[in-house]
Amino acid sequence: MRRHTAGPAGPARRLLEIRDLHVEFRTRDGVAKAVNGVSYSVDAGETLAVLGESGSGKSVTAQAVMGIVDSPPGYVTGGEVRFRGRDLLTMGAEERRRLRGAKIAMIFQDALSSLNPVLSVGAQLAELFRVHDRMSRADSRAKAVELMERVRIPAAKERVGDYPHQFSGGMRQRIMIAMALALEPDLIIADEPTTALDVTVQAQVMDLLAELQREYNMGLVLITHDLGVVADVADRIAVMYAGRVVETAPVRELYKRPAHPYTRGLLDSVPRLDRKGRQLYAIKGLPPSLTAVPAGCPFHPRCPRAQDICRTDRPPPAAVAPGRTSACHFWKETLDANR
Ligand SMILES: Nc1ncnc2c1ncn2[C@@H]1O[C@H](COP(=O)(O)OP(=O)(O)OP(=O)(O)O)[C@@H](O)[C@H]1O
Ligand code: SF4
Ligand SMILES: [Mg+2]
Repeated sequence: MRRHTAGPAGPARRLLEIRDLHVEFRTRDGVAKAVNGVSYSVDAGETLAVLGESGSGKSVTAQAVMGIVDSPPGYVTGGEVRFRGRDLLTMGAEERRRLRGAKIAMIFQDALSSLNPVLSVGAQLAELFRVHDRMSRADSRAKAVELMERVRIPAAKERVGDYPHQFSGGMRQRIMIAMALALEPDLIIADEPTTALDVTVQAQVMDLLAELQREYNMGLVLITHDLGVVADVADRIAVMYAGRVVETAPVRELYKRPAHPYTRGLLDSVPRLDRKGRQLYAIKGLPPSLTAVPAGCPFHPRCPRAQDICRTDRPPPAAVAPGRTSACHFWKETLDANR
């Protein structure tokens, strides 16, 4: 397979740039503003983790990038999604479809519902090469085996004719990774790729994904709940809350000194070996309903640091440091409190 080399630094390496993205779902219960001004970017060779509680808009943002928002009831109502500088949202449907297959791939949590149950995994992999690269039947079959070996499916040659249900959950997720890698995309979006697996298998699959990302110098958007996973594999992190990005930072800096009270709460609610015996902190309350997001800072009803201004004025993303932003009126105080 082709090996990529790192490109030049700077804007030429920027793969994906999401700017002020808005997505809403028009339902009988009202308009749910699932994505409410999200901005983040990913460079070639970089892993960006997207973290946030359930319902914060992580998956819907990814669906908008892929052009697979469930519509109706979902609509992209504003913003830009630039891939290598070109806006996917204004691109023709055919061109976008081609890009989606070959340049941007997505891995979902649930392999069983993403794979075709009545086709062997070999046939599904081979199909990609036949359609995109116009390969012969024999060549595409050989490529399928090669890919299965690449994602370390034991006895790939013998198993290439097996059906998805004949594989374990971890092996199925490896097959999903193989499908995503098949056309050597520039960018992979992995939405909770290991959540459905046992803990030990989770680590193996995540290690494999991280290894392949490095080897192919791909951009990787890794959507996850798991702060442990983030620490191990991500370069940068975007923390989402109620359809917004509240903090972005290089992972180490964010762990050492978060600049947003929500991030602080997330970090404090993770068990740590060096804090054994101490009670775990839980962020009080629940995320807001997306049909009635609170005025001002959407986190204010749960924030231990909230002041009057937080109830009325929405905090814009402030530049904390190069490559770091925080959407909090009191980011300086939050940062200093970590010292
Ligand atoms: N098909 C849909 N119809 C109506 N509303 C939807 C639909 N899909 C998503 N939503 C709304 O968008 C919100 C955000 O959903 P999203 O799937 O992006 O959350 P998430 O951050 O990925 O959460 P999780 O961690 O649980 O996967 C949901 O809470 C829901 O209100
Ligand atoms: S703006 Fe106010 S309510 Fe929002 S996170 Fe910062 S301190 Fe808390
Ligand atoms: Mg999700």
